[in-house]
Amino acid sequence: MKLSTYLTLSLSAMAVFVLNGCNEGIFSDTPTAAQSELAALGEELFFDTNLSEPAGQSCASCHSFTSGLADPDSHFSTSEGVISGQFGTRNTPSAAYAAYAPPFTYDLVEGLYSGGQFLDGRASMLEDQAKGPPLNPVEMHNPNKETFMAKIEAAPYASKFKTLFGLNVFNDTEAAYEKVARAIAAFERIKRFSPFSSKFDAYVQGKAVLTSQELEGLTLFEGKGRCVACHPSRPTSDGTPGLFTDFTYDNLGVPKNRTIPAYAADENFTDIGLAGNLQVIADGRSTANRGKFKVSTLRNVALTGPYMHNGVFKTLKEVVSFYNTRDTNQTRWGSAEIPETVNHTELGNLGLSDAEEDAIVAFLMTLTDGYSSNP
Ligand code: HEC
Ligand code: HEC
Repeated sequence: MKLSTYLTLSLSAMAVFVLNGCNEGIFSDTPTAAQSELAALGEELFFDTNLSEPAGQSCASCHSFTSGLADPDSHFSTSEGVISGQFGTRNTPSAAYAAYAPPFTYDLVEGLYSGGQFLDGRASMLEDQAKGPPLNPVEMHNPNKETFMAKIEAAPYASKFKTLFGLNVFNDTEAAYEKVARAIAAFERIKRFSPFSSKFDAYVQGKAVLTSQELEGLTLFEGKGRCVACHPSRPTSDGTPGLFTDFTYDNLGVPKNRTIPAYAADENFTDIGLAGNLQVIADGRSTANRGKFKVSTLRNVALTGPYMHNGVFKTLKEVVSFYNTRDTNQTRWGSAEIPETVNHTELGNLGLSDAEEDAIVAFLMTLTDGYSSNP
């Protein structure tokens, strides 16, 4: 977590919840016509299963609106690409609220990296991120940008692309590929990706009542469980409702997940996380950041299992028990994938009872979007 968070937490015992309703954040209620058209084009691209090689997989195949914008197939720890039997090494994170991640940066005062897209921040902005999956061999598997752009040129929405970017837009593949990424990113920035419409949000606005167990969970989440140190629940300084991530990076001491196919190819496979980010390597800070992954948002977490970068945990109860007893029940959890950078101060031995673990889980279940107090 951030040092600044630590200072605020120490002072926040008396802090009052901001109850002034949902702020629009980075989204304007009245986007310009051009922005709307760009986002509409992005929507077509996001759902188009013809854009993989062979056809069959779109962004939405792994980031589904019905699964909290994560992979609907929770059968596997990581996601299967369009080529059957080909798996990535990481569990698919939710693309919801990703628009709120600041650009990848190193804060000299904090001595911490934060922001960026992907679990290791290797894409700074959504536009950079969107350029990855189409060419990733274990995702959409296009051999090159030309093949991918030819599919878009043949798509029913190619005319929209031309209307927005000019009749000659397809002549320059490199430039057109950038524009595809811009359109997808514009779609990912619309409110549908970040609706702030959970029971928790309704509660904060005074429009819903939490059960006593959910309330106990919230109190533990912000207190004894220490979760808010990295998953802030309170609105940010500009009034954006809690994003449940501070976008920093940490090594929780998560064990290896040997069910990931990567181990079949190499039994010594290790995911070094942030240490593999080229910027971090260039900065000479790779060793110190081995095994660190971006703090996940917990919004919609009830829908996004399995959990952690390698999907090693199947249930929220298991996750909370891990935070609670990592250091007291090592026979259950096994050793950390990368021991030398593990966080030993904010988790591992929380002293929570079984009922308290359950209460935190009940609270996490209130973070699912689409809650309506008048069903
Ligand atoms: C085969 C499954 C799969 C497909 C298809 C896929 N993704 Fe992902 N997505 C992932 C995985 C796995 C990660 C995390 C990878 C990592 O951290 O190295 C990810 C990460 C992301 C993130 C970053 C989220 C964060 O919190 O850092 C965004 C945004 C995203 N994908 C959007 C997209 C878009 C847009 C497309 C289509 C162009 C797409 N994805 C296609 C599996 C997929
Ligand atoms: C020191 C920072 C820190 C603290 C404290 C912390 N977390 Fe996390 N949390 C993380 C990081 C980092 C990840 C991603 C780790 C990974 O992928 O390996 C994460 C991931 C998770 C996930 C999995 C999300 C997903 O989609 O895979 C859940 C659930 C979670 N945390 C809940 C909690 C709860 C509940 C608490 C309090 C008991 C808590 N966290 C305390 C940093 C923290």
